[in-house]
Amino acid sequence: MKKLFIVANWKSYKTIKEAQEWVMSFPTKKILPETPLSPASSLKHTVVCAPFTVLSILHQAITEKHLSVALGAEDISPFDEGAFTGAINGKQLKELVEYVLIGHSERRSYFGESLQLLTQKVQMAQKYGIIPIYCVQNDQEQIPQGVEIVAYEPVFAIGTGKTDTPENANAVARSLKAKYNVRYVLYGGSVNSGNVASFTNQDHLDGVLVGSASLSAPEFMQLIDHA
Ligand code: PGA
Repeated sequence: MKKLFIVANWKSYKTIKEAQEWVMSFPTKKILPETPLSPASSLKHTVVCAPFTVLSILHQAITEKHLSVALGAEDISPFDEGAFTGAINGKQLKELVEYVLIGHSERRSYFGESLQLLTQKVQMAQKYGIIPIYCVQNDQEQIPQGVEIVAYEPVFAIGTGKTDTPENANAVARSLKAKYNVRYVLYGGSVNSGNVASFTNQDHLDGVLVGSASLSAPEFMQLIDHA
């Protein structure tokens, strides 16, 4: 049974109150690490990538409720601590997260992030022991050295309700693993509780990156169950 990553990407959604409501509605009994789950589901690793403003309260709630949910940031400064107004750096993030999304197509297109900048971000994450989840749109893109988790997210599938075919996503994942020293490949783009299994059943896919369907706690829980 392979290890599956179920990664939520909240994007620019959720106030503190909304994030609190989301995490409070997560049923403790289902994901307490000390509650033995079925062998299949115990290999599912849930990560919530959330805006900086809610990471702290999520961290507190997850600790208090003993939830087996890891936290991720949606961005990281390409610089270390210093005079970089507005930037949240790896040293600061390390207090709250284990993962960080880097290279999402929305960062590339709306914020003009280049390969050089993304590589700097990966290096900063690595310096502070934060695991980058590096997003690419195809198997032709360069992947910075040392990246172990890649999310394949074709732009046409993001937020559109139209997924790639599981077979094609699997082929891209196989190609990424063959070309680069990548350990895990996730698929992202309109994944929901109804279609998640068609992706997680593929040999070369090791999980999913979920936007819209992660915003509702009940839908996300169902998605985890069905993965
Ligand atoms: P979506 O977003 O699930 O809403 O398509 C996925 C993503 O952008 O990571």
